[in-house]
Amino acid sequence: MTEKKIALVTGANKGIGKEIARQLGEAGFVVLVGSRDLARGEAAAKELVAEGLDAAAVQLEVTDERSVQAAAEMIERKYGRLDVIVNNAAIIPVGDDAVSRVESDVLREAFETNVIGLVGTTRAMLPLLRKAESARIVNLSTSLASFSQVGDPESRMSTVLTLGYNSSKAAVNMVTVMLANELRGSGILVNAADPGNCATDMGGWDAARTPAQGASVAVRLAMLGADGPTGEVHAEAGRLAW
Ligand SMILES: NC(=O)c1ccc[n+]([C@@H]2O[C@H](COP(=O)([O-])OP(=O)(O)OC[C@H]3O[C@@H](n4cnc5c(N)ncnc54)[C@H](OP(=O)(O)O)[C@@H]3O)[C@@H](O)[C@H]2O)c1
Repeated sequence: MTEKKIALVTGANKGIGKEIARQLGEAGFVVLVGSRDLARGEAAAKELVAEGLDAAAVQLEVTDERSVQAAAEMIERKYGRLDVIVNNAAIIPVGDDAVSRVESDVLREAFETNVIGLVGTTRAMLPLLRKAESARIVNLSTSLASFSQVGDPESRMSTVLTLGYNSSKAAVNMVTVMLANELRGSGILVNAADPGNCATDMGGWDAARTPAQGASVAVRLAMLGADGPTGEVHAEAGRLAW
């Protein structure tokens, strides 16, 4: 069994996920680059390996239980445990819209990936996380899931009309709190990270923050000490209000 800590990042073939993988690799982790398309994952892992990092691609489609199970079995066989999972994979589905207009199938698609896929992946990896000394679970959230920000008519967050994305990420916040409660005392800390608006395919290429800046929030939570928080959502400036 390797002495290095093992981290799995879902949706790590591009964007913030790839930067999280890079920064965890730089911090000394073996990083498993989760990607629903294996070739895209391998290309990202190759880039990280070329930088001297310990990285490998893992085929991982979060909505496909067989894919998730196969990834868990591979990690068990090869490493025997998992120290960190960063649940980064997410979508804003095409057609996402205001409450009065959004179609039910669009809402289902958002919840299938962002919530059900995230919970299924975490559940499958939990036995491996329990085998680690002090595992960390980090879920990617967003200010668009914050009731206090979206509920403030003066906030820019109140003007973004994507019910599927916002409400599925609000559900991710509840998953974070409930899993933190379930695992309290086990040594496993569970938190959510708001990367801020970053320049990616999802965030728009004119966003002010780089994917690396956004990634650093999740990486900090992935490397919390034993006295770190659990069941909270954090942005770069610190804890966020729900
Ligand atoms: N960018 C921002 O401004 C911003 C702000 C707040 C929060 N966030 C959150 O940060 C995280 C990363 O966002 P990003 O901007 O880097 O997005 P992105 O560039 O669109 O990347 C999303 C990643 O998730 C993967 N993915 C999507 N559906 C998947 C599925 N069913 N199974 C496995 N992988 C899947 C994508 O894979 P493919 O390449 O195959 O599509 C891609 O690797 C997300 O959770 C997002 O909600 C982003």
